[in-house]
Amino acid sequence: MEQREQRYEGKAKKVYATDDPAYYIVSYKDDATAFNGEKKGTIASKGIVNNIMSNIIFALIAEEGVPTHFVKQLSDRDTLVKAVTILPLEVIIRNVAAGSFSKRYGVDEGTPLLFPTLEFSYKNDELGDPLINDDHIMALGLATKEELNQVRSYTHKVNEVMKAFFLDKGLKLIDFKIEFGKLADGTIILADEVSPDTCRLWDVNTNEKMDKDRFRRDLGKVEETYQEVLKRVKGE
Ligand code: TMP
Ligand code: ASP
Repeated sequence: MEQREQRYEGKAKKVYATDDPAYYIVSYKDDATAFNGEKKGTIASKGIVNNIMSNIIFALIAEEGVPTHFVKQLSDRDTLVKAVTILPLEVIIRNVAAGSFSKRYGVDEGTPLLFPTLEFSYKNDELGDPLINDDHIMALGLATKEELNQVRSYTHKVNEVMKAFFLDKGLKLIDFKIEFGKLADGTIILADEVSPDTCRLWDVNTNEKMDKDRFRRDLGKVEETYQEVLKRVKGE
């Protein structure tokens, strides 16, 4: 498939058209931002880690019955995906309290939650991705009730698959964010990425943070941690 014009540039990826309108090429960058773009930096080789890791996990998730946009890895940084229109929702599951949940509700980071807790944010940089509920989503026409039901059920399945997968690699899945897209016929599939940028992963033995919080909070060993996560995900 031939790469054509750039369609979109996000904070961590570029998306290109191809000669077939049903497919895009995503290209992962090393750029890192946090706090809605307030903090900017680069994490050397992050794009490679996130590309390879996302593809491994998307392949696994697809085997477990959740359709994804992943088609084929083209290079270290580039992947062929199905073209979708992204639903403007960040779908988050929290297994353990951390980050904005801990701050908002005054709960210590590391407190286990009684069940996997799903929340939505409205994907809108100008507004700072505010928390949004089902009624808000439907009232604004961002998704229908049926689409939300599908998204919820897929997201819980993704949590179960990823929790088990990461645990086997010595990593606790604290929380994560995923995004869904719609194919031309309206089918909802998992899109975007699954990486240390979009998951909180803590070492099972030491509780060491093995994700983008090392960058967000200036904890050091950022590049090394991304490499270590990829090594574990690859089973090396
Ligand atoms: P939060 O605790 O900051 O709300 O983050 C919850 C999860 O979502 C965490 O795994 C990091 C991920 N996340 C993103 O992928 N993108 C974002 O813009 C934010 C704020 C969080
Ligand atoms: N807030 C996102 C993060 O911390 C990145 C950003 O919005 O710039 O992952």
